[in-house]
Amino acid sequence: FHHMNKKGTSLMNIRVLATSTLVGPYIDELGLRFPELCVAPCRSSAWKAGLASAEALIVLLSEPLTEADLDLCPNLRVIGTYSVGINHLPITSCQSRGIRIVNTQGVLTDATADLALTLLLSLTRRVREGEALVRSGHWKGWAPDLLLGTGLTGKTCGILGSGPIGRAFARRVWAIGMKVIFWNREGNQKPVDFGVDIAARLPLDELLRQSDVLSLHCPLTDTTRGLLNREKLDLLPHGAFLINTARGGILDEQAVMELLHQGKIGGVGLDVYENEPDLDPQWLVAPRTVLLPHLGSATLETREAMAKLLCDGIAESLLT
Ligand code: DGY
Repeated sequence: FHHMNKKGTSLMNIRVLATSTLVGPYIDELGLRFPELCVAPCRSSAWKAGLASAEALIVLLSEPLTEADLDLCPNLRVIGTYSVGINHLPITSCQSRGIRIVNTQGVLTDATADLALTLLLSLTRRVREGEALVRSGHWKGWAPDLLLGTGLTGKTCGILGSGPIGRAFARRVWAIGMKVIFWNREGNQKPVDFGVDIAARLPLDELLRQSDVLSLHCPLTDTTRGLLNREKLDLLPHGAFLINTARGGILDEQAVMELLHQGKIGGVGLDVYENEPDLDPQWLVAPRTVLLPHLGSATLETREAMAKLLCDGIAESLLT
């Protein structure tokens, strides 16, 4: 617990309680401003003891907090999460108690959109199989029909969500020649600026019917949980590709798996799963998949920027 006891701080006086260090110097700097900062693993006894005095918590997306946790934190003013997603936090309880939530919106947009594109191109150009063939030593040289993939130019990409990441992904697939359509929860009326004049908003069912590629870029909320159920997934065109860099809970993984085995879904690229890191073992042997371990924001630059934004937000909340 690297800050604990440095200045003789007792667990009774913890003001900032973090479950992990973050990438870059920012949490150390925060510790210089608030010597009553303690880093202790989530749910460890030190962490539990720190809750009584904590005014700020810093948590990771893999560590869900509950309303019962908040009951143990009478002094809590702010929760900072090292993520843009806040679905692991008791949002309504925080609101009713006046506890601020600080997330990392804005700084992981490009990194996540890049990874979604990586998944898409890896799938459609069969990168996994090509790599495996080369490494196997069995590659016999160029052949007219070796590992033919699927071209994307002229095809349609459906995007769920019109937030910064969805829009950044839209610009990327537009640049490779795809037609872009999107759906969001806001309703038809609100115009969305995609930066380039590319995207048409469609009702969800219509969007699904037209999407040769479907990429998820919406948060996991009560509205989007299980949104892509069997019935909705059935609307996708035969052979559609599905990309998820948002949250696993938005789609019905079992239904996706079945449609993939039937060939109705042409390929699936996943960076997120319903029960991370405990994947349904069927994914490990499923055909036409690219599976990554929740790497959307995982660049050095992005993780540093996230840490800075988070620590600045915590400091500001404590000082005002
Ligand atoms: C987030 O920020 O919510 C991503 O899932 C991880 O960076």
